[in-house]
Amino acid sequence: MNLSERLLHIANMIPESNCIADIGTDHGYIPIYCIRNNICKRAIACDIKEGPIKVANKNIKSYGLNTKIETRVGPGLKPLKEGEVDTVIIAGMGGNLIVDIINDSIDLAQQINNMVLQPMQHPEVLRKYLVCNGFKIVDEDIVEDSKKFYHIMRAHIGESDKYEKEVYYYTGMKLLEKRHPVLKNYVEFKISQIENIIYNSNKGETSERHNYLIKLRDEFKDVIRCL
Ligand SMILES: C[S@@+](CC[C@H](N)C(=O)[O-])C[C@H]1O[C@@H](n2cnc3c(N)ncnc32)[C@H](O)[C@@H]1O
Repeated sequence: MNLSERLLHIANMIPESNCIADIGTDHGYIPIYCIRNNICKRAIACDIKEGPIKVANKNIKSYGLNTKIETRVGPGLKPLKEGEVDTVIIAGMGGNLIVDIINDSIDLAQQINNMVLQPMQHPEVLRKYLVCNGFKIVDEDIVEDSKKFYHIMRAHIGESDKYEKEVYYYTGMKLLEKRHPVLKNYVEFKISQIENIIYNSNKGETSERHNYLIKLRDEFKDVIRCL
């Protein structure tokens, strides 16, 4: 089974577990890979839609893993019972949706040993939510594939101090600490993206949003000097 770079990096972030749950499993590749590579003993593959679960069931069957991977239809963490899984993966959805999924089942999320999270957009929204709502980000990775950046984080319940600067919610503290080789490309991309927005916004505009963007762009420029 050939996983994409993004899925491979997600799988590498998953700690050895007894039972994992893959939320929004779609094709079911993550649980299949985890079982086949002895990352976990059992898995629950969940999706809000029947269609993806049918595809996952077909893939699971083709690898002969029906006894090890169970599939369930339902929203977010709702198909899970407390204490059933030690690791949850929520990947391939927007940062805002991942926040909603965690927040809608906060009691269960707080009991999970590890959550491996991979937002497709707005990683900063997810980091801010985690840090400000009693979770600790314990590891991070970032992947660049076809000019897109994918942030991956592992988090669990724990105390975190709010980040000193807004930009750190974009760059992640762990990626900064590691001086992750992909981070520089991401920061350069963000500077150019923000400069484009500033350039295309009304000239002379002094709105709150405009000032926020200028400050954020300057914070990104400060970060790049440290990488
Ligand atoms: C783009 S796919 C990502 C598949 C896989 N996790 C990955 O990273 O490649 C998103 C999947 O999440 C499912 N999904 C969307 N919202 C969901 C929710 N609230 N709860 C569970 N699954 C959801 C969709 O049906 C879809 O199959």
